[in-house]
Parts: sequence; C-alpha cells; structure tokens
Amino acid sequence: MNILRRKTSAPMRPLKLNIGCGPIQPPGWVNVDGSNRAWLASKLPWLDGLLVWIGIFPATEFNRQTFFANLARRWPWRNESVDAIYGGEVLEHFTYQQGQRLLEECCRILKPGGVLRLRVPDNALFWENYLNEFHATRQKPPSQWTLDHTRWIEMFFREICVRPRLLRSVGHYHKWMYDEVSLTKALQQARFTEVQAMAFRQSRIDDIVSVEVRNDLIVEGTKP
Ligand SMILES: C[S@@+](CC[C@H](N)C(=O)[O-])C[C@H]1O[C@@H](n2cnc3c(N)ncnc32)[C@H](O)[C@@H]1O
Repeated sequence: MNILRRKTSAPMRPLKLNIGCGPIQPPGWVNVDGSNRAWLASKLPWLDGLLVWIGIFPATEFNRQTFFANLARRWPWRNESVDAIYGGEVLEHFTYQQGQRLLEECCRILKPGGVLRLRVPDNALFWENYLNEFHATRQKPPSQWTLDHTRWIEMFFREICVRPRLLRSVGHYHKWMYDEVSLTKALQQARFTEVQAMAFRQSRIDDIVSVEVRNDLIVEGTKP
C-alpha cells in the first residue's frame, strides 16, 4: 500500500487589483487606495476605531485588509505579476501626465494578456448635458431665463479645483476628464491593445460585477 501522499498544490488565484477602491472592497480583489484615511485605517486600525468611537471621524470601509498605496508614485507590484486591474472613477483624480504614468504602471505590472478596465465620468456627456440645457434656456424669452444650466459649470470647476484636505482623499477632486476618444488614445499610448469601450458589467475580467457598481464611460485594454 502506498502510504506516501503527494502534496497537491492549490491552484494560484488570479491577482486582481481594484485601484482607488474607496468604499468598494469586495473579496477576491486587492483593494488599493491612497487616501490618508485608508492609511490610518489599514496601518493603525485601533486608532481609527478609537477616533470613530469618540465621534471625531465617521465610520469607514477602509480596514486592515485595504492595501494602502499612493498611485501617483511608483507602484509596489513587480513587472508582469498582476492578472487584471479595475479602476472605477479614479483616473480623473490624476493630472493628464500623472494619468499617463498610471497607465504605464498598469502596463508594466500586468501579465501579457492581462486586462485593464477603467470607468470614468464621460466628459462628452457632461458638456452635452450643459449644452442641452443652455440651448433649451436660450429658446425661451429672456424674462424666463434662469441660472439653472450654470450648475454644470459650477460642478466642473468645483470638482477640478484641487485642495486636498487632511485625512480626506489624497486626490478627491478631478484633475482631468476623458471621453471615449481620449481615453482610448490614452490606453493605446501606454501600449495597450484591443482597446475598446465596454458595456456595464461586461468584461474580459472575471467577477467584474463585484467591483463595478455604476455605469459610465468604460474602456478596456489588453497588455500585449
Ligand atoms: C471617487 S473615488 C472612487 C471609489 C470607487 N472606486 C468607486 O467606484 O466608487 C476615488 C478614489 O480614488 C482614490 N485615489 C485618488 N487619488 C489616489 C492616489 N494618488 N493613489 C491612490 N488612490 C487614490 C481616492 O482616495 C478615492 O477613494
């Protein structure tokens, strides 16, 4: 009787990053965030808990499992070590140059055939909404004009003006905006292939439903 049992090694789970995760931190993903609160809650959870208990901070989804990393710096993952990357509403929190570096870092750490999927607010749709409201207002006699449509402009500049605050996000304000054309070109410039706009929750990445909580402009590319 063969009493020797061969050790069977468990299959390796794919390494999937959810960059700029915020409160969306599903299991099966490495949920990465660079905000000060993510740092506090992941490195000193007892202090974060205490500050919540005292009532200084509101409760947070960031916790010991959150992977703290400032993605504006060099990323801590090795070349070609990651299977897939998802970024929901994060790229627009970087300047154009920083964003291009972020895409290059994604390309560096993804394995060949690995997929990057980004969801961003659609700049074209944003200004289309503004123009629709502007033209509709302009059709009316001036006595009926209101400043309703200026809320788009206000939103744009309020979001874009960057003033990081202590213990809030490192980059909670938008620093750039993308449309389908510019986002596609940005991924291609960072060497991604098969770059295309995708439908909500339809992806080459497994289990996308757990990280993709909202629809918007979504583009995917493959590391060659
Ligand atoms: C609008 S939230 C998006 C949260 C979530 N992904 C979602 O889809 O709702 C943007 C997140 O990006 C993170 N972030 C912004 N700049 C970052 C940076 N330089 N490094 C790491 N995370 C960053 C913020 O802390 C924030 O949690």
